[in-house]
Amino acid sequence: MKVFENIIELQTELNNLVSSGSSIGFVPTMGALHEGHISLVKKSQEENDITVVSIFVNPTQFNDKNDYLKYPRFLPKDINKLDEVNCDIVFSPSEDVIYPEDDKREFEFDGLDKVMEGKFRPGHFRGVALIVTKLFDIVKPNKAYFGAKDFQQVAIIKHVVEKNNIPVEIVSCQIVREEDGLAMSSRNLRLNDEQRKNAALISKCLFEIEKKKKSLSLQETKQYVIRNINDNPFLEVEYFDIVNEKDLNSLSDWDKEMAIRCCIAVNVGNVRLIDNIRINF
Ligand code: PAJ
Repeated sequence: MKVFENIIELQTELNNLVSSGSSIGFVPTMGALHEGHISLVKKSQEENDITVVSIFVNPTQFNDKNDYLKYPRFLPKDINKLDEVNCDIVFSPSEDVIYPEDDKREFEFDGLDKVMEGKFRPGHFRGVALIVTKLFDIVKPNKAYFGAKDFQQVAIIKHVVEKNNIPVEIVSCQIVREEDGLAMSSRNLRLNDEQRKNAALISKCLFEIEKKKKSLSLQETKQYVIRNINDNPFLEVEYFDIVNEKDLNSLSDWDKEMAIRCCIAVNVGNVRLIDNIRINF
């Protein structure tokens, strides 16, 4: 496995590989890698000749400076994990390499950024779009892999790629969970034992929706989930929304014809966790 911190050296390596006919799969991450990240790496390895993983804690997507400062960073450990699964290339640039100067670029999200994460984390998706398009420009992958754990992020990246005619296929991968159902997240590392145990209630409530929807209206289901989670003293719902997967618009009634996603953000102490589930009829 080769590790690059510098764009020119990475591109020289990639140019050689591409000119000898290799396809490139790309997995952008912010490190503190867990099985969720590794599942994306494995998917990329199945579908491409070469897999590139980037590790960069992107300052422009954090609307909360404290969250940025406290974000877990384990570069040497992450590099070992990637080596163990036979990843080909790691790109771990410094901030100066990615943002040599202020980048003022704006993106058109056509409203996809106005709800849920976008509403509660102003500027977050601009930062995500900025870093992801920069990384696509550097790596020029054939395919790029993202987790459905960040459902709105995948929708926004697909939109940006389409709008800007970026020649990359976006692949959305399933959420990987801990044994008790909690969605894996680098932020889980910041939970204490008691918070960690109680955080399992988030996914438990999401899993229950499949059954609850038979007897409860959409609005009653929403209230049920919010009440159940807020009744736990360790958890506080920031938002819970049931949306149309296509445009992320909030639904007011169950619609059997529609692809439906239930999305939630919960504060566990000062750690903010998100999760979502697809509802099938
Ligand atoms: P990060 O949170 O490190 O996540 C990197 C990728 O791993 C994202 O596509 C995310 O959805 C996926 N992922 C995280 N937890 C997962 C899980 N439990 N199951 C499946 N996939 C999971 O998302 C980001 O970084 C950043 O916003 C980034 C796209 C790298 C831009 O900075």
